[in-house]
Amino acid sequence: MWLNLKSFDEYEETFEESKEDRLKFWDHEAGTFYWRKRWDKTQSGSFKDANVKWFEGGKLNITENALDRHLNTIGNKTAFIFEPNHPDSFRRTITYKQLHEDVCRFANVLESKGVEKGDRVVIYMAMTPELVISALACARIGAVHSIVFAGFSSQALSERINDCDAKMLITNDGLRRGDKHVPLKDISDEALENSPSVESVIVCQRTNREIDWKEGRDEWWHILIRNASKQHEAVEMDAEDPLFILYTSGSTGKPKGVVHTCGGYMVYTSYSFRQVFQVGAEDVYWCTADAGWITGHSYIIYGPLFNGATGIIFEGTPTYPDAGRLWEVVEKYKVTHFYTAPTAIRALMSYDIDYVKKYDLSSLKVLGTVGEPINEEAWHWYHDHIGGGKCPIVDTWWQTETGGIMISPLAGITPTKPGFATLPLPGVFPTLMDEDGNEIKGNGVQGNLCIKHPWPGIARTVYGDHERYKQTYLSTYEGYYFTGDGCRRDEDGYYRITGRVDDVLNVSGHRLGTAEIENALDEHPKVVETAVVGYPHDIKGQGVYAFMICEGEIKDQEEFKKELLDLVAKIISPIAKPDKIQVVKGLPKTRSGKIMRRILRKIAADDVDNLGDTSTLLDPSVVEDIKEGKAV
Ligand code: WTA
Repeated sequence: MWLNLKSFDEYEETFEESKEDRLKFWDHEAGTFYWRKRWDKTQSGSFKDANVKWFEGGKLNITENALDRHLNTIGNKTAFIFEPNHPDSFRRTITYKQLHEDVCRFANVLESKGVEKGDRVVIYMAMTPELVISALACARIGAVHSIVFAGFSSQALSERINDCDAKMLITNDGLRRGDKHVPLKDISDEALENSPSVESVIVCQRTNREIDWKEGRDEWWHILIRNASKQHEAVEMDAEDPLFILYTSGSTGKPKGVVHTCGGYMVYTSYSFRQVFQVGAEDVYWCTADAGWITGHSYIIYGPLFNGATGIIFEGTPTYPDAGRLWEVVEKYKVTHFYTAPTAIRALMSYDIDYVKKYDLSSLKVLGTVGEPINEEAWHWYHDHIGGGKCPIVDTWWQTETGGIMISPLAGITPTKPGFATLPLPGVFPTLMDEDGNEIKGNGVQGNLCIKHPWPGIARTVYGDHERYKQTYLSTYEGYYFTGDGCRRDEDGYYRITGRVDDVLNVSGHRLGTAEIENALDEHPKVVETAVVGYPHDIKGQGVYAFMICEGEIKDQEEFKKELLDLVAKIISPIAKPDKIQVVKGLPKTRSGKIMRRILRKIAADDVDNLGDTSTLLDPSVVEDIKEGKAV
């Protein structure tokens, strides 16, 4: 049993061992943490009964493993480098000791405001150290954090607050993202008009713009923190107590509050971070994600801290002030490990290569990608121009629901292949399923990707709707976790994710539900019915294409499109805005009234020669109509 895999032989050996005795494997891994009381049972429950539990009986506080545990050894090591939106703004570094103090202080503040174990706290903040401190302070007192990406609209924020019945909201006065200003406090005020559960709001200063203030509800972070003690006794949690809720899009209905627990999530994020990235003691690791997504949770906040790594918190964007921004940061901090999304790579590829060449990227050792399939062209550009041809690329496949990376090369250990997430981590057992629900054996095959046995990082439920959890993930194939992704296993047994097989879109690495966008568009008085599909987009990976039936006269198509885009931005977020809108006379429906999205997807992709069987449609002539129409 190898704690730190260092060669492909060790990987293969450990994978076999984990297969022979799964529980022993995870027992061993969990044993590397500090537990106030050791667990009684490694795993119980099953996928079939939707009641998987890990490390039951174990008592811990996750922040003692992220922070306290390191104080005597690496207390003065940098935990985070903060790089602000504008390169000339104030930047700073925070050691493990300082982070521990800040978290303790803020934990005391939260308790003084009456936040208790089990309460929900929504965090809607800029990518600054205070966001991380807020999340960790919640974890320290046993409150459940729910970070909402600070690009979501007031309506989306309000829905999330209401769904989890949050008691407190932590936000900033505003933030700057590139050259844009986002008035977070104004947006929060608007959201809170419809979210009565929130009793108090803590506002952290960032932009110093004028904001409204509600006496008795709103308080400044910097004032509250001033006299707070830097001592705090972490609250003891059960391994299965919830750590956080994170909302993510599904194929139907409103976003789901995916729930992760203290013990299993800790073990899994720490383990996967260590094995995949192979970060050494002196290395500087940078994940460019936003903490509002799972990648930020697992691989900016938790995974790196458990391992005592030095990470970067980046407030900015890849193209501000110019397209060399990321490479400037790599040079400045001598970044060794760089983890980003294919969409960022594709966007940067379209700029002059001089933006890359200007900087010294020789510190880089490992590159990573996450969130969507990476096309070969982008892979090679990343490999050659950023990695100088010498850095392994870890193409990491995972999901909000899996908690951590599931299928990925281990940096420098697993031989890579462009476009392939390659092989599962030891302890993870992927399997491909056919239409009839049978496992597809052998190599050179394709099917729906499922996971066979529970792993510690799996989400335990959808907040307030366990039935939906069961339906979405555990009912399609009984006894298996269904990922919603299609996948190919090639002749070498390597996995290549082909994309979602359900109605979830992946736009610039952001997960969006077609139903959510349709519901938003349907709010327009002229829209009768909408069908949204994804189509291949050079930069975003997938673009959003909306077909809609409208009533009344549309005088100005462009103006109408603008109204619709504003509506989507208001109800969800600017990230969900459709790229193309086509008004149609009818949608291709079956006799039972179901929209045949397969046909719309093909039309959206401009692949109209082979639309397949349309004879089951109620009115096959609508297809011709749509083919002839044009999108704006
Ligand atoms: C997709 C992001 C191909 C996939 C961590 C999955 C990927 C969805 C990869 C989850 C990858 C993630 N290659 N596709 N390396 N990583 N995906 O929940 O479709 O935001 O189901 O989690 O992203 O998105 P989520």
